[in-house]
Amino acid sequence: FCVWGIGREATLAIIKPDGLLGNYTETIKATIAHSGFKISREKVVQLDEEGAASFYAEHSTKKFFHGLIKYMTSGPVLVMVLEKENAISHWRSLIGPTDGRKAKITHPDSIRAICGTDVEKNCVHGSDSPQSSEREISFFFDIPSGSQRGGDDEHDEL
Ligand code: TYD
Ligand code: MG
Repeated sequence: FCVWGIGREATLAIIKPDGLLGNYTETIKATIAHSGFKISREKVVQLDEEGAASFYAEHSTKKFFHGLIKYMTSGPVLVMVLEKENAISHWRSLIGPTDGRKAKITHPDSIRAICGTDVEKNCVHGSDSPQSSEREISFFFDIPSGSQRGGDDEHDEL
């Protein structure tokens, strides 16, 4: 999903409340810069319950949903659009496994190993597919018209 340019992919990254409050932003942004990403959009957002539930709608039937919404609304988050070739898979590999506690053992250099606590408080988000990144980026940001992937969204004036 290419927001601005040609050939570059975009993904949505979020530094979750524990990451922001725990002062991990600079460390995470250093990793982002060293890894060749361009941060094309960013903003700090305080999600309300409705917004968090909508963002994580795919998980609404899971038993962890309530805790996830409580966590994601517990403080501000930093939302960023990251761009580079293969941004989606590269960012997912940098953040590591969902469970921050397991990440410390299996992927000790990953971002979730460094700032995550457990499977719920895992400090960061990354889109998991081109479809997710498109949905998640437009959830938080206005997309310039005419720049959507495949040009099949020309009636979508977001
Ligand atoms: P999921 O999409 O499975 O993980 P990821 O963020 O790696 O794509 O789950 C979304 C979020 O839900 C996850 O980041 C943290 C939370 N979560 C829990 O609180 N408990 C769980 O057991 C799982 C699987 C996820
Ligand atoms: Mg996911």
